[in-house]
Amino acid sequence: MRIFLKVWRQATPRDRGGFVDYTAENISPDMSFLEMLDVVNESLIVKGQDPIAFDSDCREGICGTCGFLVGGVPHGPDPGTSVCQLHMRRFKDDDRLVLEPWRARAFPVLKDLVVDRSAFDRIIQAGGYTSVNVGGAQDANLILVAKTASDKAMDSAACIGCGACVAACKNASAALFTSAKVAHLAFLPQGQPERATRVVAMVERHDAEGFGSCSNEGECEAVCPKEIPITNIAHMNREYLRAMLVTRD
Ligand code: SF4
Ligand code: FES
Repeated sequence: MRIFLKVWRQATPRDRGGFVDYTAENISPDMSFLEMLDVVNESLIVKGQDPIAFDSDCREGICGTCGFLVGGVPHGPDPGTSVCQLHMRRFKDDDRLVLEPWRARAFPVLKDLVVDRSAFDRIIQAGGYTSVNVGGAQDANLILVAKTASDKAMDSAACIGCGACVAACKNASAALFTSAKVAHLAFLPQGQPERATRVVAMVERHDAEGFGSCSNEGECEAVCPKEIPITNIAHMNREYLRAMLVTRD
C-alpha cells in the first residue's frame, strides 16, 4: 500500500508548528497504524531527518499511552479501538490521512503528536484512590461485593486514560474520564469512606486544570476506545450533588 500523510510537526511546545507531507511506501495491510509510522520514521532517520514523535507503549490497547487524531477522529475511524490497534487494512491504497495531536488547552503539545497529559494524573492525585488502612491482604471473598456493583466498577475501571474523550469534545471536557474514575471507586465498598470528598476534589481539579464543562453532546462516548458510557457523567453529577448534601455544614 501507499498512503499519503499530512502530519502535524512541532519541534517544541513554543514552536508554532505546521503540517508536513509524507508518503508511506510499501506498507503491508497487516501492519498496525503505529508500525506504518515506524516505517515512515525509519526512512526519515536514514535521510538524517527528525522522526515524527508519537506516544506508544503496550501497542495492545491496554495502557492508554497512544493517541492522536486520524482524519479528525481521535484514534481513527474504528469504534472502540485505540490507534495502536488500528490496522492499515482499514484504509485503501493512496488514501490521504491527516494526523494531528489532541487539541485542548489542558493538553499542551510537547512535540509533533505528543501532548502533556499530566493534568489527568493530577485529577487522579486529587482523589482517585482509597486511603483506608486495610491491613494485610484479605481473603478474596471477605468483603462481599454485589455482582451488579462489581460489574459497574469494572466497566468504569476499563478507562485507560488516553484522553480521546477530551480531544473529541468541543468543550475539551474531561468529564468522561473523571466520571469513570469516580464511578470505579464509588461502586465498591472500599471506596465508601472517601466517596463524598473524592468526587468533589476530582471535579474541582478537573475544572482547575482548564478542562471545559460537559454539554451532553456524546462525542466522548463515540470515540472512547474502551466504550465508557456517557451515563457515567450523569452518575458523577449525582455523586457530586450527594456530596454537597452530605458534606454541607
Ligand atoms: S474515558 Fe475513554 S476516551 Fe476518555 S480517557 Fe478513558 S478510555 Fe480514553
Ligand atoms: S500503546 Fe497502549 S493503548 Fe495504545
